[in-house]
Amino acid sequence: MEKIAVASDHGGFELKEIIIGYLFSKDVEVIDCGTDSPVSVDYPLFGKKCAEMVASGKADRGIVVCGSGIGISIAANKVKGIRCALCTSVEMAKLSRQHNNANMLALGGRLTETTLALEILEAWLNTEFEGGRHKNRTDMLDEM
Ligand code: RB5
Repeated sequence: MEKIAVASDHGGFELKEIIIGYLFSKDVEVIDCGTDSPVSVDYPLFGKKCAEMVASGKADRGIVVCGSGIGISIAANKVKGIRCALCTSVEMAKLSRQHNNANMLALGGRLTETTLALEILEAWLNTEFEGGRHKNRTDMLDEM
């Protein structure tokens, strides 16, 4: 069973809870890295925690949510081995898997409406990396 780590700050808390419900319905093992309420917290801590679960192999992939998706994706991308893609459309979600082999997805809880967020999530979960010429490039990212 695939293991997916999920984290948010307060701005992404509501969407994170919806995402967790969705993942349970898809028979995915969820590792909830917090936050646990809508009380204000610092997104770098939660982005880092989730990214470290993925980088260490404790989780296969990760999903992070903050208000815009920007701050928490920046935090996740600071962790070596992480390729976190902030996606605002289904096409971006597919491309982030096909070309970038994104191992983390970031979403903006305050900017992306829930139905679209779940469509993005579904596309991201179900799209495979194309490899080939893209592999050299993702290897280059991983060297940085
Ligand atoms: C929190 O107010 C907000 O700044 C945060 O959720 C996120 O949008 C940062 O990038």
